[in-house]
Amino acid sequence: MSVTLGEFDTQIHEPMDDDTSEQAFAELQSRNLGGWGLAQIGFGTGLAIYAMWVGILQPGFRKVPLKLQVPYIPASKAQVDNVMTLLKGRNGGLVDLGSGDGRIVLEASRRGFSPAVGYELNPWLICLSRFHAWRADRHEKVSFRREDLWKVDLTECKNITVFLAPSVLSLLQQKLQDELPDDALVVAGRFPFPDWAPCRVEGCGVDRAWAYNMQAQRRRTLGERATSPQQKRRVGHLFEA
Ligand SMILES: C[S@@+](CC[C@H](N)C(=O)[O-])C[C@H]1O[C@@H](n2cnc3c(N)ncnc32)[C@H](O)[C@@H]1O
Repeated sequence: MSVTLGEFDTQIHEPMDDDTSEQAFAELQSRNLGGWGLAQIGFGTGLAIYAMWVGILQPGFRKVPLKLQVPYIPASKAQVDNVMTLLKGRNGGLVDLGSGDGRIVLEASRRGFSPAVGYELNPWLICLSRFHAWRADRHEKVSFRREDLWKVDLTECKNITVFLAPSVLSLLQQKLQDELPDDALVVAGRFPFPDWAPCRVEGCGVDRAWAYNMQAQRRRTLGERATSPQQKRRVGHLFEA
């Protein structure tokens, strides 16, 4: 169609009718992409994933050694329920190490744990957690701190939850054992601690959760290390009921 606007002659294109768009779609479908087309799609997808990793998932991890970096995967609803079941009967404060979008911390707060604190490095996830807390009207009862979990002092923590990669759990095991008080309970979601014996297990498959009593854990580790009768006497108080 041609329209005259003063001295300008403007060509206006009719919108593509249905037949034309169907034809174009059919042509696209029938076209053989070939190696170059596939390479372009592969490159584009890779770039998009990399951009997402750098921009959304990676911030905050710059100072954390690569082998300790754990990606964000939210706990499933069943996993959260299993963690909460294992925490039944406990009270006081709770700490989630690597708190993601804050779902464990929020649920713990709903169930009476106070203070309920999440440590998370990713600033986007901290914002999201605070938003979730504000929407649930719990922003005054929970706190989300942008801190590296490896540097947090855990000596006062009684209830600890973790959902981290198996590759870091053996290192974390050592930190928890060095710092936590005897009456602490640690609950791990999805992956168990490699060398610890749980006192309870809840759920199955990917939703499973394991609870570890710190005193029992110390007894076990020290009992295994103490080989001579003198050494066993020295750690004997840990074995008294
Ligand atoms: C598998 S997600 C679990 C999220 C949440 N706890 C849940 O159960 O839904 C692990 C989280 O730990 C965080 N994280 C990993 N390393 C960390 C570190 N050194 N300090 C603080 N947070 C960390 C990641 O950013 C990620 O959000």
